[in-house]
Amino acid sequence: MERELALEFVRITEAAALAAGRFMGRGDKEAADQAAVDAMRSVFDTVHIDGTVVIGEGEMDEAPMLYIGEKVGIGSQPKVDVAVDPLEGTNLVAKGLPNALSVVAVAPAGCLLHAPDIYMDKIAVGPQAKGCIKLDASVRENLQAVADALHKDVQDVTAIILDRPRHAEIIKEIRAAGARVKLISDGDVSAAIATALPNTGVDILFGIGGAPEGVIAAAALKCLGGDMQARLKPEGPEEVERVRKMGLDDPAKLLQLDDLVKGEDVFFAATGITDGDMLRGVRYLGQTAETHSLVMRGITGTIRNITATHILSRKPRFVAKNC
Ligand code: FBP
Repeated sequence: MERELALEFVRITEAAALAAGRFMGRGDKEAADQAAVDAMRSVFDTVHIDGTVVIGEGEMDEAPMLYIGEKVGIGSQPKVDVAVDPLEGTNLVAKGLPNALSVVAVAPAGCLLHAPDIYMDKIAVGPQAKGCIKLDASVRENLQAVADALHKDVQDVTAIILDRPRHAEIIKEIRAAGARVKLISDGDVSAAIATALPNTGVDILFGIGGAPEGVIAAAALKCLGGDMQARLKPEGPEEVERVRKMGLDDPAKLLQLDDLVKGEDVFFAATGITDGDMLRGVRYLGQTAETHSLVMRGITGTIRNITATHILSRKPRFVAKNC
C-alpha cells in the first residue's frame, strides 16, 4: 500500500470524530454511533482503495452501512481488508468520558483476521516486553515477565483492564501480585495502544473484550512494535458456527499477533472524539473545529500526530450590531 494513503485514512476517522463529537454527553450512544457511521461511510467513497470491510458494524442484515463484506473505496487497486470502528466507546461519548475514538485499520486483502462480533480474551504489551507474554500463563507470571523486560519491580507495573464482573478473578490476581491496576469502564482499543506508547503509565492489558476491537488493536500494536496474544470466546454453538463460517477451523486457537494481522503492511488511523490519554477530543470553535489524530504505518513504523483545523462554515456566525 502506498504511503500517501495514510492521509486518506486520517480523513476518514476525522470525519467520523467530527460527527460523533457533537453528541458528547447527550446520553444517546445510538445517535452518536449513527452519526459516526454515516460520516465515515461517505468519506470512504473518496478513497483510492478497493476495500472490503472485514471488521465492521455487523452482518449485512443487521447493519445497513459498513457491514461485513461491504465494498468501500473508489479504486481498482490496492485490494485491501478494512477494519472500522467509527465510534469505539459509544458509552464514553454518551457520558462525556475520556478515550472515545474513531478508528480504521487497513491491510492487504487476506491479512486481517475475519473476527465475528463476539468476545475475545486478550493480553497486550508494548515493544520492550515483546515476546514475553503468554495468554495461557498465570497473571503473576506475565506481570513478572513484563517487570523484568521493563527493568522494574512488579509493584511498579501497571495493568489496565475493563471493569467488568467477569474480570474479578484477574483483578484479584493482579492485586495479589502487587502490581497497580487501572480499571476502565470502556474502550480496550485505546487501552491496548496505551501499553505501547511512551508516557501513558500503562504496561500491560489483560481481559476479555470485543473480538473486532482485538483485531483493530492488533493492527495498532503491529505498527508500534508491541505484542498481543488472543483467543476467541464463542458462547454457545451459534457463535462457534459463526467463527467457523469466518474461516477459523479451530475456534479455541491461541492467536498470535501475526494471526490477527499478517505481515507488516498495515495502516492504523485514529481520531480522538473525547479527550483521552493519547488524543485530544474534538474542539468546536464556531466556524472551525479542531481534531487530533494518530496515523501509523507498519512497514516503516512511522507514527504521525496530526492536528487539523476544519472549516465548518464560511459564513460569519455572529455579526456585531451596527457593523
Ligand atoms: P462500543 O464502542 O461498541 O460500545 O464498545 C466499547 C467496548 O468497551 C470495547 O472497547 C470493548 O472491547 C467492549 O466494549 C467490551 O464489551 P462489554 O461492554 O460487553 O464488556
